[in-house]
Amino acid sequence: MRLQGKVALITGGASGIGLATVEKFVAEGARVSIADRDVARAEAVSAEINQRVPGATAAVGVDVSVFTEVEAAVKSAVDAFGKLDVIFNNAGIAGGKPLMDHDPAVDYDPMIRIDQDGVYYGILAAGRQFKAQGTPGVIISTSSVYGEQAAELSFTYSAAKAAVISFTRSAAYEFAEYGIRAVAITPGRVATPIINQFSEDLRAVFASEQLRNAMTQPHEIADVVAFLASDEANVINGTVVHVDDGYSAFKQRLDLPVF
Ligand SMILES: NC(=O)c1ccc[n+]([C@@H]2O[C@H](COP(=O)([O-])OP(=O)(O)OC[C@H]3O[C@@H](n4cnc5c(N)ncnc54)[C@H](O)[C@@H]3O)[C@@H](O)[C@H]2O)c1
Repeated sequence: MRLQGKVALITGGASGIGLATVEKFVAEGARVSIADRDVARAEAVSAEINQRVPGATAAVGVDVSVFTEVEAAVKSAVDAFGKLDVIFNNAGIAGGKPLMDHDPAVDYDPMIRIDQDGVYYGILAAGRQFKAQGTPGVIISTSSVYGEQAAELSFTYSAAKAAVISFTRSAAYEFAEYGIRAVAITPGRVATPIINQFSEDLRAVFASEQLRNAMTQPHEIADVVAFLASDEANVINGTVVHVDDGYSAFKQRLDLPVF
């Protein structure tokens, strides 16, 4: 088991990619603190997993846009399991409007606070914990293909997700002396509640943007995150791992005549 003996904190762990990663980490031998704004769901998920694997998880309520709450979530993982080895900064929200229609107080500030500041807070709080422990640590943060491109209704989301990539490079650089690694992942179109709210037709278009012509399943992202969190990924540091089934590798499928 890849993560035997490791302790992880996973934000947004009550749903979607985060939840799939909680399950994968537990299957790989880790103990996991499930941190989510939806504390009732985090507790329900934790109780269900602990029935199968006693003592494998704990739940903690957190709003990642508040630094003191992120610090408290890190502390609660350490209180529950004695230490911290991995943080997965994954909590996030999606949505947007055309830029011309923006009200900054509605369409910029709240998303930046969660999708951008929340990752900064996770990096800082976990980094300080790793340093205090005197042990190596791994910081994995969820960016998006939108962090590297302009896209529909995405001005604020793209900015936040681009910041996640920048944070990752800088944190890897600054924290290297403490044995801490930092990696960002960029999912493409993943079948989670964020995306499942859309019509079947739109989801078919999303699927066609990926090379296997299918939506990515959350467990496929979780498999990569578990690898990145493991010691087998020790040379993957300060970089972006594209988990997008080729989304960023091509533009669109054109039915060109042979010429
Ligand atoms: N689904 C996709 O196609 C896709 C693609 C690229 C990136 N992402 C990113 O993946 C991450 C996970 O998204 P998902 O698709 O699993 O969505 P999801 O809605 O299933 O899960 C997000 C979780 O984050 C939690 N959350 C939201 N705001 C929070 C806050 N302020 N504090 C704490 N928890 C909070 C929610 O309660 C939820 O449990 C997000 O950062 C998202 O931007 C998703």
